[in-house]
Amino acid sequence: MTTNKETKTNIFNTIKNDPEFWIRKCRSEDLDDVIDVNEKELPEDYPYFFYKNILDDFPECFLVAQNQHGKIIAYIMWRVEKAPSANSLKYINKGHLVSIAVSEGFRRKGIAKALLSNSMKAIQKYKIHEYVLEVRVSNYTAIRLYEKLNYKIESIKKNYYRDGENAYFMTLDAKDF
Ligand SMILES: CC(C)(COP(=O)(O)OP(=O)(O)OC[C@H]1O[C@@H](n2cnc3c(N)ncnc32)[C@H](O)[C@@H]1OP(=O)(O)O)[C@@H](O)C(=O)NCCC(=O)NCCS
Repeated sequence: MTTNKETKTNIFNTIKNDPEFWIRKCRSEDLDDVIDVNEKELPEDYPYFFYKNILDDFPECFLVAQNQHGKIIAYIMWRVEKAPSANSLKYINKGHLVSIAVSEGFRRKGIAKALLSNSMKAIQKYKIHEYVLEVRVSNYTAIRLYEKLNYKIESIKKNYYRDGENAYFMTLDAKDF
C-alpha cells in the first residue's frame, strides 16, 4: 500500500502552477488506473504486458497526472526506436509517442501539454533526434495540441488504424523543442 508521503516523493511538477494536479512518473501499481483511463478515452486498447514492458524499458518518459485525491486522470507513454537518418546511412534515435489521454472531466486545463513537455524533456536522455507520432486524421483536438508544440504533419499513413481510419504522421526535430 502506498502512503501519501511515498506518492509525493517522485512528483516533480504541478500543472500551470495549479496545486490540484500533479505530474509524476508512473509506477507498476498505477498501471490498472492508466489502463482504465485508456479504455474510457481511446479506441486503441493494449494488454497489460504492453504497458508493463514500456514502463520497464522507458520509465523516465511514462508519466501520469493525478488530482489532489491521488486519482490518476491522465497518462503519457513513449518508446525509443532506432531508425535510419534521412540524410545518411546512420541510425538515429526517435522518440515515438505511444499514447496520451486525459480523462474527459479534466480536459482543457493544460494537463496534456504539461505531460507532453515534461516527457519530451525526459526522453532527451536517449539522445533523441526527432519526436514522432501518429494521430487519427479526424482527431482535431489532438492535432491542435501537437501543433501547439510545433509538430508538423509529415505524411499520411493510409488505413493505419484497425477500423481503417488514416493517420497523420507528425514529427518535430529535437532541436526545435
Ligand atoms: C487530446 C487530449 C489529450 C488533450 O488533452 P487536454 O489536457 O485537454 O489538452 P490541453 O488542455 O493541454 O490543451 C493544450 C492545447 O491543445 C489544444 N486543444 C486541446 N483541446 C482542444 C479542443 N477541444 N479544441 C481545440 N483545441 C484543443 C489547444 O491548442 C490547447 O491549448 P489552449 O488551451 O491554450 O488553447 C484530450 O482531449 C484527450 O485525452 N483526448 C482523447 C484521447 C486522444 O485523442 N489522445 C490522442 C491520441 S493521438
